[in-house]
This record gives sequence, C-alpha cells and structure tokens, in this order.
Amino acid sequence: MIPLVDTHCHLLAGLDDGPRTPEEALEMCRMLSAEGVQLSAALAHQNDHYPDNSPQRIREAAAQLTQRLSAEAIPLTVFPCAEVMVHPDLETAWQEGQLQSMGGHGQYLLLEMPHGLFVNLEDLVPRLRQRGVGVILAHAERCPEWLHEPGAIETLIGLGCLVQLSSAGVTDPRDGRAARAVKDWLRRGVVHLLGTDAHSTRRRRPRMAEAYQQIVHWAGAAVADRVCSTNGMAVLTGLPVRVPAPEPIRRSWFSRLWQ
Ligand SMILES: [Fe+2]
Repeated sequence: MIPLVDTHCHLLAGLDDGPRTPEEALEMCRMLSAEGVQLSAALAHQNDHYPDNSPQRIREAAAQLTQRLSAEAIPLTVFPCAEVMVHPDLETAWQEGQLQSMGGHGQYLLLEMPHGLFVNLEDLVPRLRQRGVGVILAHAERCPEWLHEPGAIETLIGLGCLVQLSSAGVTDPRDGRAARAVKDWLRRGVVHLLGTDAHSTRRRRPRMAEAYQQIVHWAGAAVADRVCSTNGMAVLTGLPVRVPAPEPIRRSWFSRLWQ
C-alpha cells in the first residue's frame, strides 16, 4: 500500500482536546504508523477556547514531538499545523501572523466552521487567496450545506479550496444519504485530502487504512492514492497542489425524465 498521509490529527499534547500527555501522543503516533501512515499533520485547534495556541507554541510542540519520535524510533514525520475556526477577523489574524498554516509553508490554512453554524466562505476565500494563502475545508462532509446542496462545494473548489474528508465520514457515515453523497464526491473528484481527526488513543482513534480501502472500493486506487497520500504529501511539504475541476453531477435516468 502507498504510504498514507494524515492531514488532520490532534497530536500536540496538552494544547487542545487532543492527547493529554506526551506519552499518549506517542501512542497515537505508533497507531498511525501501524495504519500505514508515514506523514501526518500534528495540529491543535486555533479558536476562542484555546487562545494560547500561537503559531510559535504549535511549532515548538511539533518540534518536541519530532524529537520524541526520533528517540523512540517511530517512523512517522509530523508537520506543525492548526485547525482554525472561521471567525470575522480571520483575514486580519492571518495578516498579523497569528495563524498557523499547514506545515508552516504559508500555502494553506485548514478552516473549520464554527460549531452549529454555517458561514458562506465565498467572500473570504478569494480575499485570503489575494493574500497568498489557500483554504482547505476541514471534514467537509460534516457540513450539510456543502454535502447536499448541488453546486455548493464546486463553487468553493472553483475559488481554489481543497476539500478534506475525515476517515469516519468514509467508514461511518451519519446515514445512508450521507454515504451516497460522500461516495458521489469521491467518484466525481470533489475530495482532495483525508484526515483522521483523531484526538486520543481511545475516543476518536487514528484510523486511516480502513478509509483508504473503502475509497479504493468506491472510486478506485488512483483516487484513493491521491486523496490519502500524494495530495496530502504536497500540502504538508509545501509543494504545489493542482487539482482538476470535479466532474459534473450525474443525474439518474429517472430525474432526467423531468427536466
Ligand atoms: Fe479536528
């Protein structure tokens, strides 16, 4: 199997609701390695609940984790990242250097929606792009407005966004409708990245291999390799990521009768 890349993993002990101790973070890294993951985001939340998570604090925590991985001979490379919650002053925060980009390359920010809210990003995304940074939509399958509204996610991709799914969104979708929509996204090239969104060794564990196999089953090995490996490798190491436009929505013969 191709080396897997986790683009969303809470691995920075004590910085957020992820692992509580360095030992637990290391155990999560062992679990990732056993899943076939060789590169991983080591991220923490950046939002109002965790005001101390500056880019410097995140970088220092990731560097400490790298040292421990080396000392324990765990074959996993981690990159300092953040899961940034959308807020009204986000553009200013980026300008002022308060936000940690993926891998610290200044190329992409991983954005999540405020809990229980939907925010239209069609103004913010182009403004951030003008300032040189692209947007990755974290666990996009959790947002029904994107998953079920025809054309909504395509508009954001057209503005330059990359779409990230969480492993659980593939292996344990909320219901049958969500499963069909995620499968359709994968087959049409809507999805660019996968992340475990793991938080601990017990609750929300780092599971990646099963999602990879499910994507192979649904959309083929070439899609699974891009989504679970090569695109993430480029994001974390700061290489260019060029993605084709998604294929148009396929309509069933039944719905075409009513056009
Ligand atoms: Fe997360």
